[in-house]
Amino acid sequence: MNKDFLWGAATSAAQIEGGVFDDGRGLSIWDAFCRIPGNVKNGDTLDKACDSYRRWKDDVRLLKELGVNSYRFSVSWPRVMPEGKGMVNQKGLDYYKRLSDALADNGIAPNITLYHWDLPYALHRLGGWLNRDIADMFADYADVVFNGIQSAAMFSTFNEPIAVYVGYAHKGFAPGFGLESYGRIANHNLLLSHGKAVERFRNSGNRAKIGIVVDVWNRVPLDANDPRDVELAAEQNALAHGSYLRPIFSGRYDRRVSRHLERERIDIGMQDGDMRLMSAPLDFFGLNCYNRVVVSSAGKDVKRALQQNGSVFFDNGEEFYPDAVYDAVKSVCLEYGVNVPIYVTENGIGFECEREENGVINDDERIKYLSGGLQSVLRADKEGYDVRGYYVWSLMDNFEWSAGYSMKFGLFTRERKPKKSAEFYRGIIRGYKERQNDQKR
Ligand code: NOJ
Repeated sequence: MNKDFLWGAATSAAQIEGGVFDDGRGLSIWDAFCRIPGNVKNGDTLDKACDSYRRWKDDVRLLKELGVNSYRFSVSWPRVMPEGKGMVNQKGLDYYKRLSDALADNGIAPNITLYHWDLPYALHRLGGWLNRDIADMFADYADVVFNGIQSAAMFSTFNEPIAVYVGYAHKGFAPGFGLESYGRIANHNLLLSHGKAVERFRNSGNRAKIGIVVDVWNRVPLDANDPRDVELAAEQNALAHGSYLRPIFSGRYDRRVSRHLERERIDIGMQDGDMRLMSAPLDFFGLNCYNRVVVSSAGKDVKRALQQNGSVFFDNGEEFYPDAVYDAVKSVCLEYGVNVPIYVTENGIGFECEREENGVINDDERIKYLSGGLQSVLRADKEGYDVRGYYVWSLMDNFEWSAGYSMKFGLFTRERKPKKSAEFYRGIIRGYKERQNDQKR
C-alpha cells in the first residue's frame, strides 16, 4: 500500500453541523425541504444535527482517538455566502478555516468538499442548478474557499453529483421537482460548475489537490448470458455514474446518455467549449462505494435469486458483497479511463436499530461490512490499482437525508459515544501504522 495512504472518516456540513441560524448562515434547499411534511422521516430537520458547528473540537478529538490521518468534511455554501453570491459571511468561512487548521495541526489531512447537496435557498429562487449562470456563482464561491483555507490537503468540487440529478428528476431529495429533463439540465450545469471551479483552483495558488467525488453503484446483470440483462445494466451504469465520468475523463457524453437525451427530447443547453471545460485534468478521483446493484430485465425477484446462489444479506436487507469496492475501482479505471490516484471517499452501512449490550453498541454487522470493504481495497491495491485512501462513512450518526436521524451510519453516536466498530477501525489503523514502523526499522 502507498506509504502515504490516508485512513479517514467522512461527514458533510448539512448532516452534522446544526447551528442553521447561527452567525449569519443563509438557508439551504434542505432547510426548506425538511419543513414540508412528508419529505423527511419523522419531520426531522437539520437544525441541531450533531451540533458540530459548536462541538467541532469534540469531533477533532474523536478523530484523534480513532487514529485517522485524514478527515473528509464539507463546507456549507450558504454558511459562507448566505445569498449564494456576493457577500461573504466571514464568520462562516472562519469556522471552516479553524476546523481545517486544527486538523492540519493534529496531523489529520483536511479533505474538503465544496458541495455536498446544500444549495443556498436564495440561488434556488434564481433557478438553482437549472440556471446556467450558476456555474460562475459556484466558481466564485469555490474561489472564496480556495483563498480562505490554505491548510486543506484536498478539495473536491462535488460529492455524488447524482444527488443533484435526483433532486430535480425525482421527488425524494431537495428540491424535489420530479422532471427528467430538469435532472439532465441540472447535471450539465453542475459539470460546467465543476470545470469552472477547477480552472479557478489552478489559478488560486492553493497548494492542495483538486478532484471530484462520484458514487459508483455498479449495476450487474442477474443473468450474464441474457443480453437483455446485460444491456439493462449497461444502460443504467451509463445514465448514473457514466453521466459524470465520461464527460470528466473523456470530454464527451456517453453515447447512451446522448441517445437518452434525443429520445426524451431534452435540450441541455450545450455550448461550444463546455466539454473542454468539464474535462479539465484532475489530481485525484474520489470514489464513494457502498454496494453493487444486481438487475433483471424480466423483473425477477433478484434477492431471492441471489439467495438461491448462496449470497448473504445483512439485517437491513442489503447484500453482503465484499468485492463491491474492488469492482468499482476496476470499472472506473478500465471502462472510464480514470488515470489519477483514487481515494475511496465513502464506504459504510446504515442500520435503523442498533443494540446496546453492556453499555456498548454492538455493531458487528458494520464490522463485517467494513472488513469486506477493506479487503476489497487491499485486493485492488495488490492488483496494481492506485488506491491511496479509505474513508468510513461516517464518523458519527447524522442526518441521513430523507431518512432523517432514523438511519445510522456512524462509528460513534450523535452523542459521540464509540460503537464497537470504532474500536475495530482504530485497531486496523494501528496495525497498519505498526507494520509501517517495522518496515522502517
Ligand atoms: C452518500 C452521501 O454522500 C452521504 O451524504 C450519505 O449520508 C451516505 N451516502 C449514506 O447514504
